[in-house]
Amino acid sequence: MRSRSMPIIRFVREGKDVECKQGENLREVALREGMELYGLKGKLGNCGGCGQCITCFVGIEGESKVGALSPRTEVEEIKLKRRPENWRLACQTIVMSSVIVVTRPQEALLNAKSRLEEARAQKLS
Ligand code: FES
Repeated sequence: MRSRSMPIIRFVREGKDVECKQGENLREVALREGMELYGLKGKLGNCGGCGQCITCFVGIEGESKVGALSPRTEVEEIKLKRRPENWRLACQTIVMSSVIVVTRPQEALLNAKSRLEEARAQKLS
């Protein structure tokens, strides 16, 4: 049963809504809940959440509330300079309220338009 005060992370690629505690690390929640966070490079080797390998990309979708996630860290500002503005490094991101997330945004999402529209249309909390 869902608690109203807990953020919900809607993982679009996996078609799954996951509840987490406010202040939890996005990478930790994704891995705990069995999401396929890493692409091939990250699967072969990642830094374990230290902000060094730059393989834990996620895309944040929809009009997430301001402050729904912690602001980009210094590492993200540097490493994501040439990436889309809605990309984050999951290991650097703290969840404060409900958000819509696409794991591995560097990989094609089948039927992306309709899946994203559907994800945005359904109430998050
Ligand atoms: S896990 Fe290495 S940068 Fe996020």
